[in-house]
Amino acid sequence: MAQGFDLDNVDGLCRIDSTGMFAALEGLPAQCRSAYQDLAGQVELSEIEAISNVVVTGLGGSAIGGDLLRTYAAGRLSTPVIVNRDYVLPEFVGADTLVFAVSYSGNTEETLSAYGEARARGASIIVITAGGKLGEYAKRDGVPVIGVPGGISPRAATGFLFLPTLQVLQRLGMLPGVADEVNEMIGNIKELRKKLGPDAPERDNPAKGIARKLHNKIPVIWGTPGITGVVAQRWKGQVNENAKAPAYWNVLPELNHNEIVGFQFPLEILKRIHVILLRDGQDHPRVQKRFEITKKMIEDVVDGYTEVWALGEGILSRLYSLIYIGDYASVYLAALYGIDPGPVKAIDYLKKELQAGKDN
Ligand code: PA5
Repeated sequence: MAQGFDLDNVDGLCRIDSTGMFAALEGLPAQCRSAYQDLAGQVELSEIEAISNVVVTGLGGSAIGGDLLRTYAAGRLSTPVIVNRDYVLPEFVGADTLVFAVSYSGNTEETLSAYGEARARGASIIVITAGGKLGEYAKRDGVPVIGVPGGISPRAATGFLFLPTLQVLQRLGMLPGVADEVNEMIGNIKELRKKLGPDAPERDNPAKGIARKLHNKIPVIWGTPGITGVVAQRWKGQVNENAKAPAYWNVLPELNHNEIVGFQFPLEILKRIHVILLRDGQDHPRVQKRFEITKKMIEDVVDGYTEVWALGEGILSRLYSLIYIGDYASVYLAALYGIDPGPVKAIDYLKKELQAGKDN
């Protein structure tokens, strides 16, 4: 008998999930379809020209779509894509910058501030939001808005927040051939859903299996600068926000030049670490070799490691396969801790305290 919550008790899983995280995960393929086909098709782009760089500004669940865009664009777009998680924008932002200002709630103060800076610098701006002040400001300023459906957590809305950016860049002639990859990715995650959802029993369900391994452990998630680094960051954030637990991420080869040295002390804490190795068959061969050596260096020191391989052909499929596994695993991990995955009281508290400071 496995320890803790019975992950095959579907009713029990639904009972702790007050905000519908499982439903949002189940709906991800449909969300991606609608996000790509319906949301950005109509937005006015005629005034956008001569773009030299792209900036996605946002925080948390609204910023990760920017990292997905950056990762996807890295091998295909000659224009740099930067993700900005701050009140201020980098100095280079100007009239030749396309800024996606992304805030699901529309009320995140850092994003509102960066939006104001983008306006002051004369950048081309597209707002992606479910409403809030950002939606109001954009309407007031005549800035194009991609309105996304509200009612779910920002981190459950990556399809809505990321795929419209691809659609916009495609419409601007910067990223051709995206549609086929989006279709492939949606087919891929639909298949994967059968193995990951609550109805798939723990013995055959990789996400439940990973959650079990991470329970009462400190997850350390390693990817690469190829496509899995952004996924490592996503897994970390999902463990934090859904399971309310610490998690850390890094990438090879960089971690072979520092973090790996730190696996000597303190032994009792190292024994509580479970390492997730996010693998992609298209990673650089030398990086693949580094994984093999690194595994041997940590296997007797930490609790254990688990390799999770990207599935599918195109970049989007491979990216989203890993994201989907991690998203589901983080919600099952929440169940193992007996905690509701939806509410993020610590973030709400911070936002409220900062707002109170403003009102004084
Ligand atoms: O997932 C979450 O709830 C957070 O990470 C939020 O995305 C973050 O606080 C920013 O809020 P918003 O996405 O509404 O701009």
